Amino acid sequence: MTTNKRIVLSSDHAAIPLRQTIAKHIEAKGWEVVDIGPTTPESTHYPKHGQAAAERVASGDCERGIILCGTGQGIMMAANKVKGIRCGVCSDTFSAAMIRQHNNANMLSIGARVVGEGLALEIVDAYLDAEFEGGRHATRVDMIEEA
Ligand code: RB5
Repeated sequence: MTTNKRIVLSSDHAAIPLRQTIAKHIEAKGWEVVDIGPTTPESTHYPKHGQAAAERVASGDCERGIILCGTGQGIMMAANKVKGIRCGVCSDTFSAAMIRQHNNANMLSIGARVVGEGLALEIVDAYLDAEFEGGRHATRVDMIEEA
């Protein structure tokens, strides 16, 4: 698998401060962060931000993506409409590691109105530090891609 250690970040208006905190945290871990905004707090539409981030990952420009909205749910649904994207919403560290180990998730979604900053950063660490296990899980991931 090719790695470029580039990660795209995006959110809607509900998650801008948490997204910016996550960006600093990830940069300190050695990733190149591509933060595609938004940066101003006006109400906006999560589907366009989820899809824009997903396209950066699907094109190979970024290896991973982290997206946020109030619940993490709507922006995740939008990202998963892009071919080749496997994005899960996580509110716990176990799931964040498992979506890498078993589902080879190339994107993570977090709900800024669901988890606090401390837990969000632990979720990010669990997601970024876990590796895909392959084997029988690769067969299943291939089935998702072929659907
Ligand atoms: C915005 O109010 C809210 O609907 C959005 O951030 C997200 O939670 C949708 O899934």
